[in-house]
Amino acid sequence: MSRSSRIEGFYKLSVEERLRLVKEFAGLTDEECRALSGESGLSLKSADKMVENAVGTFAMPLGIATNFLINGRDYLVPMAIEEPSVVAAASNAAKMARDKGGFTTSSTPPVMIGQVQVTDVKDPEAAVRRLQEEKARLLKMANEQDPMLVSLGGGARDLEARVIETMHGPQVVEHLKVDVRDAMGANAVNTMAEATAPVIEEITGGRVYLRILSNLAVFRVARAEAVWSKEAIGGEEVVDGVVQAYAFAEADPYRCATHNKGVMNGIDSVIIATGNDWRAIEAGAHAYASMSGAYKPMTRFEKTPEGDLRGTIEVPMAVGLVGGATKVHPSAKACVRVLGIKTANELAEVVAAVGLAQNLAALRALATVGIQKGHMSLHARNIVASVGCPPELMDEAVEIIVRERKIRMDRAKEVVEELKRSKGAPGTARPSEKV
Ligand code: MEV
Repeated sequence: MSRSSRIEGFYKLSVEERLRLVKEFAGLTDEECRALSGESGLSLKSADKMVENAVGTFAMPLGIATNFLINGRDYLVPMAIEEPSVVAAASNAAKMARDKGGFTTSSTPPVMIGQVQVTDVKDPEAAVRRLQEEKARLLKMANEQDPMLVSLGGGARDLEARVIETMHGPQVVEHLKVDVRDAMGANAVNTMAEATAPVIEEITGGRVYLRILSNLAVFRVARAEAVWSKEAIGGEEVVDGVVQAYAFAEADPYRCATHNKGVMNGIDSVIIATGNDWRAIEAGAHAYASMSGAYKPMTRFEKTPEGDLRGTIEVPMAVGLVGGATKVHPSAKACVRVLGIKTANELAEVVAAVGLAQNLAALRALATVGIQKGHMSLHARNIVASVGCPPELMDEAVEIIVRERKIRMDRAKEVVEELKRSKGAPGTARPSEKV
């Protein structure tokens, strides 16, 4: 089988057939397939080791977004999300990006910030200078905390200090910049910040309170870009509609929050599927979107001189492939295998591309037919499935309740029964035919 993620009609296949294609695409083992399908996901025993007071595990739908071409390579993208339409929308946006080469991505080295807060400093500016003078000693001490990270090419790289004005007077804040390689980095950075704190007190003559990673990972950003041809997305009017939608979000925080929520639909789904910390990603992404002093869109859209649509995204992306749930959750491990990624940077870039695709899909729908049409047919599909519709009658039943605008359980039940009778499905003989 070819390694293209462009799989025509993937959504029409049964779950088993989809799983078989994903297995072939990614070269998964049977055990990994069972972890994806949920047959053998996170065990209660593992869950009990992960959190306190565990009583169970909590399942979510896992979909596969198709069609992603990123830096010339095809990806099938696992997305864990409870909301209908998101996986389909991402797949569709990725499909429409293919004729212009898909997504181009980049990322910075995986450098995280550890913050140390120093209060009660007599001369804060002098303390900042002294911290700079002692930089080499502090970096050495920080690196002694994690020889493994250093041996992998990471470690504390730099130190900066500044004075901030707070409601309780000036405080000195030290930023320790740490290259965390393929880790999310919280453990490494927090350990270093805590270990160096007593020396920082000694150097500044102040009192250290907080020693913690910052989720505003400004040095660890992922970028993605794609051009959607006007033909692929439905004409120049659609290009104009998306550009206007972007302008709306740029100018208005009420719209901007929803615009960015659409981006995070894509980002969070992949972050969750790969066992990463989505609260960290959310916090960082929204804070980064506010760096100018106003809350701004995470993406940008513009019309190219040829009349096509160029979309870009730049977002902090503190993801890891070692440690945490990524390494212990069997489904997360299988999702990483589906992606076939080898580094945290590659994961970060894929996630950024998915965020951009997701946003484009939402803006395109909003600027044209609206999102309810797509939402409603998926909602209808869920309703029809929940009343026990056989797969062969599914499309017809969905079409009927959508056309009638009666997307309700009672009507779905009636329609399915009517269809079963009219098609003479086994076990559904008309009353007169019953024996
Ligand atoms: C819904 O989950 C996300 C959207 O509201 C995003 C947007 O409005 O851009 C459709």
